[in-house]
This record gives sequence, C-alpha cells and structure tokens, in this order.
Amino acid sequence: AKKAVLGPLVGAVDQGTSSTRFLVFNSKTAELLSHHQVEIKQEFPREGWVEQDPKEILQSVYECIEKTCEKLGQLNIDISNIKAIGVSNQRETTVVWDKLTGEPLYNAVAAPVSPGSSVPVAVVPSGSSVPAAGASSVWLDLRTQSTVENLSKRIPGNNNFVKSKTGLPLSTYFSAVKLRWLLDNVKKVQEAVEENRALFGTIDSWLIWSLTGGIHGGVHCTDVTNASRTMLFNIHSLEWDKELCEFFGIPMEILPNVRSSSEIYGLMKISHSLKAGALEGVPISGCLGDQSAALVGQMCFQDGQAKNTYGTGCFLLCNTGHKCVFSEHGLLTTVAYKLGRDKPVYYALEGSVAIAGAVIRWLRDNLGIIKSSEEIEKLAKEVGTSYGCYFVPAFSGLYAPYWEPSARGIICGLTQFTNKCHIAFAALEAVCFQTREILDAMNRDCGIPLSHLQVDGGMTSNKILMQLQADILYIPVVKPSMPETTALGAAMAAGAAEGVGVWSLEPEDLSAVTMERFEPQINAEESEIRYSTWKKAVMKSIGWVT
Ligand code: G3P
Repeated sequence: AKKAVLGPLVGAVDQGTSSTRFLVFNSKTAELLSHHQVEIKQEFPREGWVEQDPKEILQSVYECIEKTCEKLGQLNIDISNIKAIGVSNQRETTVVWDKLTGEPLYNAVAAPVSPGSSVPVAVVPSGSSVPAAGASSVWLDLRTQSTVENLSKRIPGNNNFVKSKTGLPLSTYFSAVKLRWLLDNVKKVQEAVEENRALFGTIDSWLIWSLTGGIHGGVHCTDVTNASRTMLFNIHSLEWDKELCEFFGIPMEILPNVRSSSEIYGLMKISHSLKAGALEGVPISGCLGDQSAALVGQMCFQDGQAKNTYGTGCFLLCNTGHKCVFSEHGLLTTVAYKLGRDKPVYYALEGSVAIAGAVIRWLRDNLGIIKSSEEIEKLAKEVGTSYGCYFVPAFSGLYAPYWEPSARGIICGLTQFTNKCHIAFAALEAVCFQTREILDAMNRDCGIPLSHLQVDGGMTSNKILMQLQADILYIPVVKPSMPETTALGAAMAAGAAEGVGVWSLEPEDLSAVTMERFEPQINAEESEIRYSTWKKAVMKSIGWVT
C-alpha cells in the first residue's frame, strides 16, 4: 500500500520510573501518531532500597522503538520521516558503567542497613542470591540516609553552600549521595574509577551513550536540567562545581559533558539491536529531565507559568524566567531548560512529591486490591468518599514541603465500615492533598496565587482524580487531551534543535492538543475541612523512624 504523506516526524523516548515509552509526533500539529509502552521492574532488595536494572531499561527502549516503528508501518507511515529523537527521563537515578565493556558496574548489594543507621554496608560479590543484574540506584532509594546525616554535619549552619550552589536541600533524593554510596561500597566501581574505566550518568546519559554507539564511540553527555539534579552542578555558572565534587568526594573525570537541552548530541547507532536499527543515523537532539520536558510540552515559557505532572511521583514546576528564586517554603530551585547552545537558561521552582502513581502501583502489587491501575477509578467511584479514611503514602519519607526522612506511610481513620473502595478513594485524595501542599508553598513563594493548574501525566486520564484535584485546590484544573506532555516536550526540544529545525515551538504547532477543564464542585468550607484533616494525618506520619 502507498505510504501516507506527512510532515516531518519527531520521536521521543520517555524513560520513567514505572515505564518506558517511545512516541512519535507530527511536528506540524503535535498529533501523537503511534507509541509503545513497557513497564519497568523495580527491585526492593531491602526496606528503603529501590533498584532498577539499567540493561533492562535500555532493552525496554529498544523494544519500544521497535514496536512503535512496526505500528507506524501498519499505519502506512514511513519511518524515514522521523527527523530527530528526544530523550526525557526519570531524574537523579544513578548509573555507573564500564566504558570498555558497556556493562553497568553495580551488581548486587545486600547488607543490613536501615535508614538512619550508621552500620557499614558490606558488598556481596556477584553470584549471590540477590539480583545479579546491573542495577541503578533509583531516586526514591533511602539507603544513603546515614551518608546524608554525616555530610550535613560538615555544612556550617549559616553557610549552606550546597543549597546556594545547587538549589537543593541535602537529601537521599539527589545523585551525588547515591554516587558517593556506590564509590564507598561497590568494589567494581572503585576499581573501574582507579583504572579510568568508569562513567557516571543519570538515565539520560546512560541511554544517549548507549544509543549513540556505546563502546563503539558513544557520546557521554547530559543536559543542564538533568545535571541540576545531581547536586554536583552549579546552577549559576552551569558547570560541574569543583568544590561540590570535593565535598562529596566525586572524581570529576567520570562526569558526563553538560550540554543544552536542545542540540545534536550524536546520531542513533543501534544496528546491533534488531529492528530498532531502523532509526540508524537519526540525530538525538533533545534531552530534558522528565519534569522539565513536561514544562516545555505544556508551553510554560513565561515567568509564572506552572504545570503539575502525575507520574510515579508528582512534580509541580513554576517557570521563574532567568532568575534563580530560592524558596522559603520547602521548594527546590532547579534548571527549567536551555533550548539551544546559545539560548538563555530558564529556572524553575519545584514542588516534588515522592509518591503519587506509585501508591496505585502499591495497591496493585503489594495489597492486590486492584488488578490493573485503571481499576482504581471504578473502586473509588463506587463509594465517592473515603468515609473519613486518610492515607499518607510517605513510603520514602516526605519530600516537599516537609523534607522529612523520618516519615513513613500511614492509613488512619479506619472503622469497621471501611472497605477497599474507601482506601482506594483515600489513595487518590492523597495525591490531591499532596499537590495542594506544594501549590500552597508555591503561592507563598511567588506571591501571586495560581488562578488554575495545568496538569499532565498518565494519572490525569482518571476523571475522579481530576475532579477531586479541582475540589481540593479550589481552582480549575486544566488538562491536555493528550496526556503524554513529557514526551511531547522532549520531541519539541529535539525538533527545534539547530541543524534539525522541524519544530517552531509556537502554539500553532500544537493544534492537535485540545484542553479539558475541571471546575471545583464542592464548597470552599468542605474543601478546607478535608485539607486540615489531611494535615493532621501528615503530622502522625512524621517521626515514625528515628
Ligand atoms: O525526580 C524524579 C522524577 O523525575 C521521576 O519522574 O515520571 O517517574 O514520576 P516519574
């Protein structure tokens, strides 16, 4: 059959904590033409530890590219129309690999350590009973709590140079402490560093290096948004910071080159990987941490524009223009994007919530009260209320605005009447209450309250969640018809890059994206009562571990 004629197409890899996707957009309308998604395993070898296998992540990218190309073929769309590829990724997750073999260097670690404990961690050689595959230390992992406590003793109270250089509080969340842990505890990493074979990267670096050839000349780079989440990057000078690297004891030679979020980093070179080789030679020209990518995908290019993305966690980012604004209410200062080598940098204030979609996955995988994530909507709809039950999913402590590593999850307000539907409803409400907390902090820091909230991400297809969110925030919630805003942002950055030039970043290039609006439907007093009860529940979750 004759292939359909289309404008230039742009592909995007969206590598999230829960799944990997490859999506292909028409650069003239932002229409999503085809995509494929693969769920990613998360290992929990010990309480508080969260690991993933970088090779499984890479393989999932190949699989998604391959399947999407197949689907395009079935639609009679010629994949040679794909002119560029963007990468967006879960941020902070840390990988160290061997540049000579292409193998991740962190095999298997198992030792009794609990958050806050100072017990040294022993390394178990590969071949032990714990997963032998290479693993990356995921952003949610808490194993570095004692490292953080020890490091924070070395920061003078009146001169928090880490915060002023990076915009971040010292926390287990960011890459520097995860890398420090790997250097302290994994012999293979230590040896590779000594022998100049080690490369460090967040998931974007690992993927771009692999997709541009790996051991056969792969490009070792990252972009300013991902670099700004490592805690080694100076967000003012936009360079790796020598003083920070010395403070964390990180050898600078293992760090990737820092580039803008929109430029050609290298060409796809994956012919060894089955049909994914179909995109051989296509430039990879966009790279953004997923939350920055969503900001771009929502076209939040003006000072004061904000979006909230519901993924594994929930992340509300507000563009602050060329100014680094420092929060007084528990928000992070981060690089929003830099769309071109010679383009200016934009910053954002960020409210980060660790657990959003992850609570639904937990209800599915750990409690088994739903079989698929979509079922949560049906359960919640059956009752339409939590019946006074509150669920604080502080599985990894609490992030913004509290930054409380001592918190743990609680479900409270249970009675004999409570059933799984009420718990499902409370889980959805928890996502909304957590968003309200970061929106309140954002409003206080910015001075001008947001008049509506732009949202995106997989969970936004849940209509109950969206209505609850409008009720609990007491402002309208506006969502795009196509929730894959993160991938769209990465595709836009890739298509707009110098030397590619197929995406203009003007609103007319997003004509396929329409908006849906949810207005608050309860009264303001009821909204406030529910929110203040939530806060009571949060207080009970804090201080659970000491
Ligand atoms: O900072 C972590 C964030 O980038 C993870 O995003 O989409 O997996 O919730 P997501």
